[in-house]
Amino acid sequence: MPEAADTLRPARFLGARNGLSGILQVPGDKSVSHRAVLLGAVNAGPVRISGFLRSSDTLASLRAVQSLGVQVDEQQNNLVVRGEGWEGLREPEDVIDVANAGTLIRLLPGLLASTPHLCILTGDDSIRRRPMARILEPLRAMGAQVAGRRNGTLPPIVVGGAALSGITYELPIASAQVKSCIVLAGLRATGRTEIIEPAASRDHTERMVRFGGGQVERETLPNGRGRITVYPVEALHMDQISVPGDFSSAAFFIVAALLVPGSALTIENVGLNPSRTGLLEVLARMGAEIEVRLTDILGPEPIGTIRVVSSELRGTEVRPEEVPNVIDELPLFLLAAAAANGVSRLTGAAELRAKESDRLAVMATFLRSLDVNVDEYPDGSQVSGKARWTEGHMDAHGDHRMAMTAAVAGLVSEHGVSVDDTGCIDVSFPGFTSLLESVGGTWSPEIP
Ligand code: S3P
Repeated sequence: MPEAADTLRPARFLGARNGLSGILQVPGDKSVSHRAVLLGAVNAGPVRISGFLRSSDTLASLRAVQSLGVQVDEQQNNLVVRGEGWEGLREPEDVIDVANAGTLIRLLPGLLASTPHLCILTGDDSIRRRPMARILEPLRAMGAQVAGRRNGTLPPIVVGGAALSGITYELPIASAQVKSCIVLAGLRATGRTEIIEPAASRDHTERMVRFGGGQVERETLPNGRGRITVYPVEALHMDQISVPGDFSSAAFFIVAALLVPGSALTIENVGLNPSRTGLLEVLARMGAEIEVRLTDILGPEPIGTIRVVSSELRGTEVRPEEVPNVIDELPLFLLAAAAANGVSRLTGAAELRAKESDRLAVMATFLRSLDVNVDEYPDGSQVSGKARWTEGHMDAHGDHRMAMTAAVAGLVSEHGVSVDDTGCIDVSFPGFTSLLESVGGTWSPEIP
C-alpha cells in the first residue's frame, strides 16, 4: 500500500470501442504461488516451481523464506526452492516484512510455530490493521508461543519456538488462511489436528500437502460444514509444482467481456479449482454466456480454458453459503450487478470488511459515484442495476482488487472511470493494464 501521495499512480480507464477480443493467459495464481514457496521451503530437497507469480505479495514470500536461510534460484517465473525440511530453517536476522500479503502473514506463523526460532512479522499500513487473533488463538491452543500488538490482535506478531500438540478447532468463520495456518502447524504437532470449517473454503494447502505425500483428509458434515484432519509428517517430497493462471485475475477479464458489448475472450491455462470458481455459477444465474473446458491437472490443481462473450445480465442473490468460493470476486459481482437488469443482493459477506480495504464500503462509495443505487448492510449490500454509466471515481485505498474493478467499470462508462492509484495492482497482477490494452481496452495515466 502506498505510504505517501507521491507514490500513487492515478489513471483513467476508458472504453473498448469494438469490444474486447482475443486469447490471453493471466499470471500465476497468487494463493498457489505463496503456498508453493512456503511448502517448498520445508520440502525434503529442492522443488522446481513453474508459472510462479512475480507480484509484490508473492515476492514477499520469497524474501521471507530466503531470510529463513532457504536458497532460491530464480529464473523469471521458474524457481528452484532448495528446502531441507523444517530442520533446515534458520532464525531470521531481522523482522520479516510481508508487505501487503495477508496470506503470508497468516500462513507463515503456522509453518514456523514448531521451529526453535524467534520470528517477528509485520507489513504495510493495511496489514497492520488486519485481524490476527484468528490465527494466534488456535496456534496458542496447540502450545505455540505467539504474541501480537494490541493484546494479540494486530501485527507486528511474534512467533517463538515450542512443541505443538494436535487440537480440535472450530473455525468461527470460513477462512482458507486460518485453516491453512492450522494445517501447517498440524503437520509438525504430536497427534492429529482436526479443523471444523463452517463452509468449504479454498483447499490449495490441503492439495499441496497431499501432493507432497502428507496426509490431510476432509469429510463433509451436516449443514455444509467440513472436518479437516491433519496427521503429522516427517517430511514432504515434492519435485515440481506447476502454478496455474489465477482465476481471480481472470475474473476481471471475464466480467469485462460480459459487460463490454461485442466482446469475445478466451482465457487459457487458468486454475479451475472448484473451491475458487464460485463466480462462474453466480454469473451463469445472471445469464452470462461462459464456456469452461477442463484441459489438465497440473500437479495438485485442475486447469482449463474459459471462453466468454458479452451477455445481457439479470440480478441475482449471493447467499452466505456461497460466499467462501467467490470471496475475492464479490466486488466484481457487485459491479456486474450494477450493470444487470433488476436488483441483486449479497449477504453473509462481513469478511469483505477485513480484506486489504473495507471492500463493502469502498464498493458502495464507488458505485454511488457511477450513480448506481446501493444499500450497504453490515454483511453485504443490495444493488439496483442501471443501464448506462456516465463516469465514476474510485478511491482504491491501496487495494489492488478495487483498482482493477474500477478499470473494468471504466470500459463501459461513457466518459470513463478515474482511479486514484494503479500502482497497488502489482500486489497480484503486474502487467494488468498492458494485458487489458492488448485485448482492446483503453486507459491513460493521469497527472497526480
Ligand atoms: C486466501 C484466502 C482468502 C482470500 C485471500 C487469499 C488464501 O482469505 O480472500 O485473497 O490464499 O488462502 P481468507 O482466508 O481471509 O478468507
